[in-house]
Amino acid sequence: MKIKVPRHIAIIMDGNGRWAQKKGKTRIFGHQAGFKAVKKTVKFALQNKIKILTLYTFSTENQKRPQIEIIALLKLFLFALKNEVKHLNKYNIRLKVIGDLTYFHEELKFYIYNAEKTTLKNNGLVLNIAANYGGKWDIVEGVKKIVSDVQKGCLSIEQIKEEIFSQYLSTNHILPVDLVIRTGGEKRISNFLLWQIVYSELYFTDVLWPDFNASEFKNAINFFSTRQRRFGEVVKN
Ligand code: IPE
Ligand code: IPE
Ligand code: MG
Repeated sequence: MKIKVPRHIAIIMDGNGRWAQKKGKTRIFGHQAGFKAVKKTVKFALQNKIKILTLYTFSTENQKRPQIEIIALLKLFLFALKNEVKHLNKYNIRLKVIGDLTYFHEELKFYIYNAEKTTLKNNGLVLNIAANYGGKWDIVEGVKKIVSDVQKGCLSIEQIKEEIFSQYLSTNHILPVDLVIRTGGEKRISNFLLWQIVYSELYFTDVLWPDFNASEFKNAINFFSTRQRRFGEVVKN
């Protein structure tokens, strides 16, 4: 049987803190292990010919965490941007960061801009990093931009349709999500992509993010391939 492979997979990478806690280590140690799992996951995505991978690394609500944890996460992000761009190019990966970047310091913003620019023409895999991202933030930003275009006279209210509105979201460069994976046992969306997941298949696993591996990735893809996607229609078997 031919396995149906999702084109766009979005992952809520949850469970770093609990993984570390179980080992008697700090939450920051868990995030470092989580980064290793990210690198492996990108490799699996490439091997499985996934077109788009969106990873939730930091939610707008994660700003409420202790400052020491936030600083460590931002440091890890900066480290990844500084060190991984050459590998992204080697594997033909385009990197895009989605989220409210105004929160980040100048150096981080510079490396985000640099990574996006350097990898812009790569077309093997689109890797979206959702950083300081919120599904509600994305929609509100879209509304602000669309209102501004209406005020400027570039768009009329009658022209606003779902497809047009999609173009005002941070995901306007990609296809909708086929499969959402959440590790760490919780069965919720936690303000990740909202508009973009209206017809996604949802896969939840208790595995903590640093333990996510090729066989877990395969399980999720196998789950996806058994789903009948009806999009509201009546589909004959
Ligand atoms: C997910 O792991 C990573 C981020 C939210 C940054 P957590 O840090 O939420 O880990 P748990 O859920 O506390 O185990
Ligand atoms: C969701 O995990 C955010 C990321 C994985 C980046 P959280 O740990 O923040 O979610 P809640 O608080 O359990 O809903
Ligand atoms: Mg969590």
